[in-house]
Amino acid sequence: MTMKAEEQLVEQFHKLYYSNGSRTWSGNTKWLGYNVLKCPLDLWIYQEIIFENKPDIIIEAGTMGGGTSLFLASMCDAIGNGTVISIDLQNTNHTDELPKHPRLIYVSGDSISDKTIEYINMYTYPNKKVMVILDTDHRKEHVLKELNLYSKLITKDQYLIVEDTNLNHPNPAGFEGPMEAIDEFLKENKDFVIDESKNKFYLTFNPNGYLKKLTWILNVIKHHVDGIIFYFFFFIFIASSEKLIYYERYIYSN
Ligand SMILES: C[S@@+](CC[C@H](N)C(=O)[O-])C[C@H]1O[C@@H](n2cnc3c(N)ncnc32)[C@H](O)[C@@H]1O
Repeated sequence: MTMKAEEQLVEQFHKLYYSNGSRTWSGNTKWLGYNVLKCPLDLWIYQEIIFENKPDIIIEAGTMGGGTSLFLASMCDAIGNGTVISIDLQNTNHTDELPKHPRLIYVSGDSISDKTIEYINMYTYPNKKVMVILDTDHRKEHVLKELNLYSKLITKDQYLIVEDTNLNHPNPAGFEGPMEAIDEFLKENKDFVIDESKNKFYLTFNPNGYLKKLTWILNVIKHHVDGIIFYFFFFIFIASSEKLIYYERYIYSN
């Protein structure tokens, strides 16, 4: 199958799956009985990320029914590490209905308010490995504000996941969304990269939405690769020309 044919097939299936939300993701995908507004293939990616990186704190912005919060807490339990902090504007309105788990803390508030960020900081400071999932208001301006605030909390090698980058890509949204926010964010923030390996299952609701924070050494290599190559060859050139001079002197002196 050609690349183009493969892309078309994936896009068609994506649209079929997404546009039939009541049958698939929107209220009909559950974790231990609670609604999860996600594609199960993305949940599998989450499981792999959590196992591999063992975050101490997972911040989920956008609780809704709490199914994903419970899924994340279950994953933390399975690996024996981690606490989930889930934030939503509406969390106080239906606290009784939200799933309970010893590793799960709910916060009620606006994801971008100073109060919420101050509260979150109490858990993330100091030396905690922090992973973040952004899944609240999907308009570009809001996601960009979240990206700027929450990216500061992510520790090296951990993930900043932006949900629903499939809005406009390929599902028309009628407004600029999470993918457009990432594009803008990455222009200014060089210590994050899109981990394209997370698109491996073909269908994802978060195409290019898995951002990984680089370690300082990878950061230096990524952004200064031209300079590194230049200095490498420059050094070889200098070293070899010094050697030539030395040989020349040797020949003349003999
Ligand atoms: C897409 S749903 C979250 C789905 C959930 N993460 C899941 O996987 O099942 C979006 C949620 O974000 C909340 N929300 C919207 N704007 C918000 C904001 N500014 N701050 C906090 N929560 C917000 C809404 O109340 C809603 O429950």
